Amino acid sequence: MKVGVVYYPEHWDRELWEEDADLMVETGVKVVRLAEFAWSRLEPVEGQYNFRWLDEAVDIFARRGIEVILGTPTNCPPLWLYEKYPDAILCDEHGNRVTIGVRGHRCYNSPSLIKKTIQIVTEMAKHYKDNKAVVSWQIDNELEANHCTCPVCTDKFRNWLKKKYTTLEKLNDTYGNVMWSGEYSDWSQITPPLGDRQSWLNPAYLQDHYRYASESMVEFVKLQADIIRSYCKDVTITTNMYLGAMTPDFYKTFEELSYASYDNYPVAVIPEDHEEIYSHAFHLDLTRGIKRQNFCIMEELSGAPGCWMPIRRTPRPNMIKGYSLQAFARGADSVLHFRWRSATKGAEMFWHGILDHNNKLGRRYDEFHSLCETVNEELQILEGTSIHNKVALLFSHEQDNAFKFQQQADGFHYYNQLKLFHDGVSRLGAGIDIINITANLDQYEVVIAPTVYIASKEIVDNLTEYVDKGGKLILTNRSGVKDETNACIMDYLPGPFASYVGAVVEEYDALGNDTNVIRMKNGKTYRCNQWADILQLDTAESLGAYMEDFYQGKPAITKNTYGDGEVYYVGTILERDFYRDFMNDVIEGTNVEVFQGLPHGVEVSVRESTVSRYLLIFNNTNHVQEVNLTDIERTILNPFDLKVVPFN
Ligand code: GAL
Repeated sequence: MKVGVVYYPEHWDRELWEEDADLMVETGVKVVRLAEFAWSRLEPVEGQYNFRWLDEAVDIFARRGIEVILGTPTNCPPLWLYEKYPDAILCDEHGNRVTIGVRGHRCYNSPSLIKKTIQIVTEMAKHYKDNKAVVSWQIDNELEANHCTCPVCTDKFRNWLKKKYTTLEKLNDTYGNVMWSGEYSDWSQITPPLGDRQSWLNPAYLQDHYRYASESMVEFVKLQADIIRSYCKDVTITTNMYLGAMTPDFYKTFEELSYASYDNYPVAVIPEDHEEIYSHAFHLDLTRGIKRQNFCIMEELSGAPGCWMPIRRTPRPNMIKGYSLQAFARGADSVLHFRWRSATKGAEMFWHGILDHNNKLGRRYDEFHSLCETVNEELQILEGTSIHNKVALLFSHEQDNAFKFQQQADGFHYYNQLKLFHDGVSRLGAGIDIINITANLDQYEVVIAPTVYIASKEIVDNLTEYVDKGGKLILTNRSGVKDETNACIMDYLPGPFASYVGAVVEEYDALGNDTNVIRMKNGKTYRCNQWADILQLDTAESLGAYMEDFYQGKPAITKNTYGDGEVYYVGTILERDFYRDFMNDVIEGTNVEVFQGLPHGVEVSVRESTVSRYLLIFNNTNHVQEVNLTDIERTILNPFDLKVVPFN
């Protein structure tokens, strides 16, 4: 359990380094991340490496017992590199090299960039291999799937397709390119997605491009990881992920890395003003699920974000401390705050750090200090513990991308459906893992698989095996629509899942922002919108039916008993309360541990080892909460406070 900071010695006068390191020690900082954007200082002239300044910085921290995570600087090649090797610059959706001088504008496939990457990473790895202070490496920074359209990437994409389809006939046939006379007659006609009208492009082609783009990025990560590993024997390696427009497949990204890291910037608004009170927990659970093990928050909110957008509200008192504690509660073993000092120069000067421009110790510093004390003194008991839940929510990059390419209805977003279920389970007071849709599901009593739109054989086999073994599975609307080639399946929905759902979709209505109402068997009613599957029952029973429109009285939500298992189908998207009530019913009678009686906005998780168990209660609201849980002593929690309760 460690708290750390992101530090940029290259941004500050040398005299400040020691002063900063002393203050960090006094504050309780245990780890710093350095150098992830510092290529121009590490190799100021081609082939002339200068590690002296970084050695000094590492040494300053080492002498004070602070560990170092070293970043490879490949996010920001220096300008001399771009000048000499223009092919290293990423090309945009019009095929033009992008403007340099920002960051992240390198092409992962450029032979020059690869050559220079191998050189700088090798030099760094050789130089720091015996430095005991360097305990871990971060590869690049917030990598995205490779969306470069340069000639090298174009060629690579073509070769990727050639390998997959062998012949153009097969590719044309799979994509259905006869539509609009789009058949390729030569491989040279294939390019990465270009132009402004990408939403009109063939979705099968877009999906393949995304798959290629993610793999291409993962190769870049592996290239660097292999170099580091070959020199530095006892270090761990990671990269810091975030959820952006071109998020790579993070299960594959981290497959060969030591641990997952995530950059956590919970919006600095009071969460109860916000609909998605459990959204922060969602991201943390998603990160823990990547490797199904404890993780690191590589960058954590420390002040008001701003710069390339207007400055946001400053974090409320106890928020920056609280969101770190929340991360520890959800499986983080280290949390590093971004950044120790707010920059006084450059594009990021208003993305506020722990210390303000005034260089005085203020409210946020005091809070960060208190966080370090809490972690160093009270949270060490969590060392060696991890989280083991019995409910799983399945995430899939394939679905996420497919819905990005073809939004199914106004307001319909893949993440929303996942979040609704996550929110429902969290409100109940149960733990939930978010894991890859193809992961082994043996440990779970309940599995929720929202919108399995692309029903690849691997996914269908995994879910079928789970149901066959007697699991409880929840499926929802837009499942079984397409096969893995992105073609619609010519059968009743939910296609390959229909046999165990025990019902089929006779018709659907893309409600978008219009609404309907569902009446449940027990008489409760809930508003629904976005999507309406009109179901025809086979062996399933109806749990809820539409109350309006021409399909009034038709089932929307069903339950089917299948062997020893149960399969539920939720054919629409409902208001938030439904998910809590529904999950309560599904969980009943299982061994899922539920902490009844949580006030709204208070959340729980359990970290355990073979010898101890701790219940972690976190108040994600801006007011004092009284928590009365069965068998747990009454607790009063201040805003954003965490309480650790040993229990059996
Ligand atoms: C992150 C990024 C950092 C910094 C921070 C605040 O996404 O990794 O380098 O830019 O945002 O802007």
